[in-house]
Amino acid sequence: MEKKRIAGQKSTEYIKDGMILGLGTGSTAYYMIKEVGAMVQGGMNLKAVATSKSTENLAKEFKIPLVPIDKVDRIDLAIDGVDEIDKEFNAIKGGGGALFREKIVDSLAKEVIWIMDDSKLVDRIGKFPLPVEILPYGYKHVIRKLESYSLNPVIRIQDDKFFITDNGNYIVDLYIGNPININEFYSKVNVITGVLETGLFINTCNRIIVGTDTGVKVIENTLGD
Ligand code: A5P
Repeated sequence: MEKKRIAGQKSTEYIKDGMILGLGTGSTAYYMIKEVGAMVQGGMNLKAVATSKSTENLAKEFKIPLVPIDKVDRIDLAIDGVDEIDKEFNAIKGGGGALFREKIVDSLAKEVIWIMDDSKLVDRIGKFPLPVEILPYGYKHVIRKLESYSLNPVIRIQDDKFFITDNGNYIVDLYIGNPININEFYSKVNVITGVLETGLFINTCNRIIVGTDTGVKVIENTLGD
């Protein structure tokens, strides 16, 4: 947790007065959100869009002014966690099931920072189960289709029930286990009717902040769009 804490706290150094922030979801984002709360209490003028109901609740607890996504004209900076990321900044996100809102917020943000401990840095993504948000109607057919592509889909269960996302949908986790063929994945999975969004994020962030045993490392994404 110490590595997550230092990464989360470091990310708040990029926050400037007057910004509209995108607040991510998860245990690393927690430390960032807590710090943002302290900044607001200290007099900074900040507003935020939350990427999940759990983050919304945290933001309320830390008295961060929230704005609905459709009421903002911009997001200046989005800060979020990540599940796996490679050197080309290809990533898997959505371990917490918030991938759809995270993707929208990231896509609107002028700048995106991802925060993590060093276990998230990998040579090739694909070991972490890749979450896909699917609509409940006809979900079995979507799962069959994913099975036919040998993607090993497993519907996510929580407390003996189907996990329900903040958008009222299901999550299917793909146990791919191999390096993901990104082009093939997009051409097959993203076009299945019933798939809302996937947790595959390609070269989306501007910078990553990594907590390690010896301190925090900031790595800039110089790859461009
Ligand atoms: C939430 O849906 C995810 O994308 C999280 O940001 C991701 O799972 C990282 O979570 P931790 O910071 O808790 O490891």
